[in-house]
Amino acid sequence: MVVDLKLSFSSKVSLIVVIVVILSIHLYASIEAMIESQRIIQGIIDEKRKVNELIAFSLESAEYQSLTWYKKYIIMKAAEPEDVVYCRLVKPSGEILLSSIEEERGMYILDPAIHANETLVKSDVFNGEKIIVIVSPTYHGYTVWLGFSVAQINAVFIQTYMQAAVMTFMAALVLAPTSYFIVSRYLRPVKELTDLCKEVGRGNFDVQASVKSEDEIGLLGNTFNNMINDLKRLREEIRRSERLSAIGQLAAMVSHDLRNPLTAIANAVYYLKTKINLSENERVGKMLTIIEEEVKHADKIITDLLDFSRVRKPEFKEVDLTSLVKASLDNVKIPDNIEVKIELDQIPPIEADTEDLRRVFINIIQNAVQAMPKGGKLTISAKKLGEYIELKFSDTGIGIPKENLEKLFTPLFTTKAKGVGLGLCICKRIIDAHHGNIEVESEVGKGTTFTIKLPINQNYIKEENQN
Ligand SMILES: Nc1ncnc2c1ncn2[C@@H]1O[C@H](COP(=O)(O)OP(=O)(O)OP(=O)(O)O)[C@@H](O)[C@H]1O
Ligand SMILES: [Mg+2]
Repeated sequence: MVVDLKLSFSSKVSLIVVIVVILSIHLYASIEAMIESQRIIQGIIDEKRKVNELIAFSLESAEYQSLTWYKKYIIMKAAEPEDVVYCRLVKPSGEILLSSIEEERGMYILDPAIHANETLVKSDVFNGEKIIVIVSPTYHGYTVWLGFSVAQINAVFIQTYMQAAVMTFMAALVLAPTSYFIVSRYLRPVKELTDLCKEVGRGNFDVQASVKSEDEIGLLGNTFNNMINDLKRLREEIRRSERLSAIGQLAAMVSHDLRNPLTAIANAVYYLKTKINLSENERVGKMLTIIEEEVKHADKIITDLLDFSRVRKPEFKEVDLTSLVKASLDNVKIPDNIEVKIELDQIPPIEADTEDLRRVFINIIQNAVQAMPKGGKLTISAKKLGEYIELKFSDTGIGIPKENLEKLFTPLFTTKAKGVGLGLCICKRIIDAHHGNIEVESEVGKGTTFTIKLPINQNYIKEENQN
C-alpha cells in the first residue's frame, strides 16, 4: 500500500524548523553531556590517583618498619570500594608480590608501566571489562597498581545523555505545535495567494489579495493584484476585439446592403420635393425634411461603420494642413452661436492621407460643436515642433468627466443619444497609421482640447524607429 503523504507548505516549513532546532538542541545537549562526563571521569581519576599515591606511601612506610602483614592489610583495604577491581604490589621484575586477588600472586605483568617512576594512568581490560589503572611507584622500584571499573563513569555518561535526550524530546513537544502555529500564521498570505490562484484558474478574475505587510509577501500580493488587473484588462480587450471583429464583419455587410435603399429613399424625397408645392403643403415639406435628415444620419452611421471595419493603409501624399482644416470646417454645420478661430502658423505641408485626415478633423470639429449646445468658441491652432506639426482643437464646451477620459478612444463609447461612439476610435486609428499621436485634456464645464501630433515626413519616422 502506498501512502500519499501530501504535506502543506506550512507543515513542511515547520517540520524543517523543528528538525533543525531539535538537531541543534540535541547536538548541544550531547556535547554538554560529553563535557560533563569527561569532567566527572577526570574527578574520579584524580581521586583514585591520590588514593594510589597514599597506598604507595603507606606501603613504603610498612616496608621500612618491616610490617609485611600491614602491607597485605593496606592492599586488601584499598580494594574494598565497589568500583576497585584490584590492588597489586608489583616487583620491578613484573612479578605480582601482593594482590587483593589471591590467585594473581606470583604472576608476571608484561607492561612497561612496571618501571613507572611517577604516577601514570592507563586503560586496560580485565575479565572482558574495560577498566582504568593507576600505577604509582613505591619503595625500591616497586609499583602499586590500582585498577578500577569505568562502568560507573559510563553510567554517569548515559544518565547525562538520557537527560539530554529527554530535554530534546520535551523541546520537540513544545516546539512542533508552536512552530506550526507561527509558520502557518506567517505563511497565511501565501496560502491565501494559492487559493486565489486556484480561483483565477477556475476563471474568476474578481479576486484581490489583501496586502498587509511591506515585506516580500506584501510585494508578492501587490504583484499578484497587478497581474490580475492586467489579466482582467486583457480578457476584456480580447472579448471586446472579438465582439468588434464580429460586429465589424456584420456591419460591413449590412451597411453595404443598406446604402442602396437609403440612396433610393433620398432620391425619392428629392423627387417628391420637386413635385409637391411645398408652400401649400408645409406639413408634408416638414416630413420630407425629417426623412432627409434621418437618411443623412443613417448614412453617417453607415460611413462610420464601414470606416471602422475597413482595414486600409493610408495613401501618403503632400497635404496642406491649413486648407484641409478649412475644408473640414466647411463640411460641418457650424451654428451661429459658435465662433470659430483659426490660428495656423506658417506650417509646411506634411505627408498624409488627405481623406483620412479630413475624417479626423470633421469628427473632432463635430464633437466640439456638439459639446457647445449653448454656443461657445472653437479655436484651431497649429505649429511646427521639430519634425512634427502639432494641431490643437480647443472648445469651450461641456467638458469630459475624468472617468470618461480613458474610455474616449474605445469603440462604441458614446454619451450621445444619437451617437455611435466610433468617431474618436476611427480618429485614433488614422492618427496611429500616420505614426502620430492624439491626446485629450478636458475640464468639466470649461472645455476640451484635442492635441494631434503628426510627423511632417513619414520617412523620418521610419528612420527614427530603425535607430
Ligand atoms: N469636444 C468634446 N467635448 C465633450 N465631450 C466630448 C468631446 N469629444 C468627444 N466627447 C465625448 O466622447 C464621446 C465619444 O466621442 P466619439 O466621437 O467617439 O463618439 P460620438 O460623438 O458619441 O458618436 P459618433 O460615433 O457619432 O461620433 C462622446 O460621446 C462625448 O461624450
Ligand atoms: Mg463624434
